[in-house]
Amino acid sequence: MGDPGLPVLGSSLPAVADGLKLARRGYERFGAVSWANVFTMKAAFVVGPDALETVLTNRDKAFSSHDGWEMLIGPFFEGGVMLMDFDEHLHHRRIMQQAFRHERLVSYLDLLNPAVSQGLDSWRAGSAFPVFPALKQLTLDIATRVFMGAELDAEADQVNTDFINLVRGGQTAIRAEVPGGRWHRGMQSRRRMEDFFLRQIPTKRASDEDDLFSVLCRAESEDGVRFSDREVVNHMIFTMMAAHDTSTITAAMMCFFLAKHPEWQQRVREESLALGKPEISFDDLEALTSMDLVFREVLRMNPPVAIAARKALEDTEICGHHVPAGTPIHVGIYASHRLEAFWHDPDVFDPERFTPDRAEDKAHKYSWAPFGGGAHKCIGMHFGGMEVKAILHQLLLRYELQIAPGYEPFMDTATGPFPADGLPIDLLPR
Ligand code: HEM
Repeated sequence: MGDPGLPVLGSSLPAVADGLKLARRGYERFGAVSWANVFTMKAAFVVGPDALETVLTNRDKAFSSHDGWEMLIGPFFEGGVMLMDFDEHLHHRRIMQQAFRHERLVSYLDLLNPAVSQGLDSWRAGSAFPVFPALKQLTLDIATRVFMGAELDAEADQVNTDFINLVRGGQTAIRAEVPGGRWHRGMQSRRRMEDFFLRQIPTKRASDEDDLFSVLCRAESEDGVRFSDREVVNHMIFTMMAAHDTSTITAAMMCFFLAKHPEWQQRVREESLALGKPEISFDDLEALTSMDLVFREVLRMNPPVAIAARKALEDTEICGHHVPAGTPIHVGIYASHRLEAFWHDPDVFDPERFTPDRAEDKAHKYSWAPFGGGAHKCIGMHFGGMEVKAILHQLLLRYELQIAPGYEPFMDTATGPFPADGLPIDLLPR
């Protein structure tokens, strides 16, 4: 069941104008699975926790992550772990997992905290400070230090510029190598980044540094297999992409909701003040319970990865709906987070819904899935939480956040909804 929409355009316009509305309407009319024509592609939209579980756990191996994502981020992120399936994916994921173990996260936080502090030194108190681009720069600087183990110099600036071109290339509508176009620039940037990382591999392999690049060079599976040079480079480029917009959008939208709900801002700040230190350590995360409630609620309301992409490899079934082989599948994380059947007042900011008393997220294992699930579940989930909370901790100790009465950010969509107006927030020094 589905809706063909307008001739030629299909449902592309409603998808751009309000993708959430389109997906929720599809769910109300047709149930967990419905098809629509979006950007000349007939795709199945999958909404609701049961359907998410079926596709993401992929028990019958009926869905390919590679084929789903390839159509969207194509050659820009080839060799990334999300663009692999089954045995190959498992092999790479096992090695990569070494770089995300508890003791590694503790070391990353030691590199991350000074980068946050230095980045925030360049923020200025005043009205309508554009928080979103400032956080984008901050998370890039963090990636330079923590992922690449590099200093903030001219070469790092060039890598950051290349990285931005690469991400833009992957998101461009004109998907062809037209000289001067975004795709072309993105591919040129990818090649420059590959050269940059390849040149450093011998040094990184020999080092015992704690940055992600060095750790990936040394990481090995239980049977002693390491990544090749080319594999390390592919994983570095993909991981930087997977970490960047996701963490930035989460931190930015936390700033917005905390500015909009001063009582929550006060509550979160009080816990930070109670720690009595300018920078958090890994063990402090547990004490920041209100921060965690807000983090979860923001990821529910505004998941930075709105859909997970898959393609059906064979004729299959999702919650009783037939899905033919070859169908592109959009796993609707965002829409599932806003279903009245599973959430009380789903469009209302209410972090208390995650407290043990209410535990709305526990009604179904896949009600709350901002990090996906199954074999491809976000490997950087704990890193992302730690990074965002380390930033918010320092920020709230420095500034009171306020917004103009009635202000709502203008939201656009890339991998998920993001504040396209730069998110102007008043920063009042404390
Ligand atoms: C709040 C921040 C983040 C959110 C909401 C998020 C969300 C997601 C989601 C939904 C997926 C699964 C996509 C799919 O199944 O198709 C994913 C995968 C992934 N994420 Fe994250 N992510 C975040 C931060 C990070 C960070 C900080 C890193 C790295 C340091 C990272 C690295 C990855 C990688 C490597 C994958 C692919 C895993 C695989 O295919 O096995 N993410 N992320």
